[in-house]
Amino acid sequence: MDFRIKTVGVIGAGTMGSGIAHVFARTGFRVLLCDVEQRFLERALGQIRTNLGREAAKGKLTAEEVEATVQRIAPTTDREALAEADFAVEAATERFALKAEIFRALDGVLPAGRILATNTSSISITKLAALTGRPQEVIGMHFFNPVPVMTLVEVIRGLATSDATYATVRALAERLGKTPVEVNDAPGFVSNRVLMPLINEAAYAVMEGVATAEAVDQVFQLGMAHPMGPLTLADFIGLDVCVDIMRVLYEGHGNPRFAPCPLLVRMVDAGWLGRKAGRGFYQY
Ligand code: CAA
Repeated sequence: MDFRIKTVGVIGAGTMGSGIAHVFARTGFRVLLCDVEQRFLERALGQIRTNLGREAAKGKLTAEEVEATVQRIAPTTDREALAEADFAVEAATERFALKAEIFRALDGVLPAGRILATNTSSISITKLAALTGRPQEVIGMHFFNPVPVMTLVEVIRGLATSDATYATVRALAERLGKTPVEVNDAPGFVSNRVLMPLINEAAYAVMEGVATAEAVDQVFQLGMAHPMGPLTLADFIGLDVCVDIMRVLYEGHGNPRFAPCPLLVRMVDAGWLGRKAGRGFYQY
C-alpha cells in the first residue's frame, strides 16, 4: 500500500461519486469532492449524511464520527483544487467524450506519478489512459451501488497499467474494507458483460409477452436468491445507463447478441429511466 495517499480526489458527485467519497471519508481519508455545480455537491453531502445516519442509527457510528466523516469531505467546483490529491478517481456520467475531457484535464492538474482511476462501468481503460501522459498510472476502480454496502471492487488493468499501480489500487480497495477482483480491459469487464445481457434478456421476455416484469423478477428473487430481480435492478441502476452499457458491449464486440432490447430503448426515449425518474419497469 502506498501510505503516501492521504487525500483522495473524487470527480463527479452523483450516486457513485458520493458513495465513493462516503467510503473514503469513513475510512479516514481526506476527500476533495468535485463537480461542476454547487447544487450537485450539496445533494451529495446530504446523501452521505443520510447514509452515515443509517449506521449511526444502528450504533455502528457515533454522532461525532458522522460529523467528523462529513468534515473530511471538502466539496469543490474547482478542478485545480485536485492538485492536492495524492490519488484521484473519476465517477462522472458514463459518456466517453465527457470522461475523455476530464482525463485530459486531470492529467494536467494532478502531479506526475499520481494514480488516476476511473469508476467507469464499461468504457475502455486503455483508451482513457492513452489520452494522458501517464498511461501506466491509469486504472479502473469499479465500485457497485450502494457503494457503502457492496463489497466488490472490480480492478481493471489497461494495457499499459503498471504492476505498481495495480498493487496500490488493490491495497487501497482492501483498506476501504472491499474485496478487489482483478479483471482485464474488455468491453463491460466481467460485471457488466454478464449482468447487462441478463437485464436485456429480461426486458425481451417482457416485450415478447413471456411474463410480466413482476413475474420475471420473482423468478430470479425466489429461484436464484437474487436480492433484486433483474428489472428492479435495471430501474435501480437506471435504464439509460443499461442502454449505454449495452451499446458499448455491442460496439466493442461487434456481435448482435449485445444489441439493446428495443423496449429498453423506447423506455429511455420516453424518459422512463427507472427509480431516479419515478418510473421505469415500476412506478416509484
Ligand atoms: N448507503 C448505505 N447503506 C445502505 C444503502 C445506502 N445507499 N442502502 C442500503 N443500505 C444498508 C442498509 O442500512 C442495511 O444495512 P444493515 O444490513 O446493516 O441493516 C442494508 O444496506 C440492507 O438495506 P435494506 O434493509 O434497506 O434493504 P435491502 O435488504 O432490500 O437491501 C440492497 C438493499 C442492499 C440495495 C439490496 O437490495 C441489494 O443488494 N440489491 C442489489 C444491488 C446490486 O446488485 N448492486 C449492483 C448494481 S450494478 C452496479 O452498481 C455497477 C454497474 O456498473 C452498473
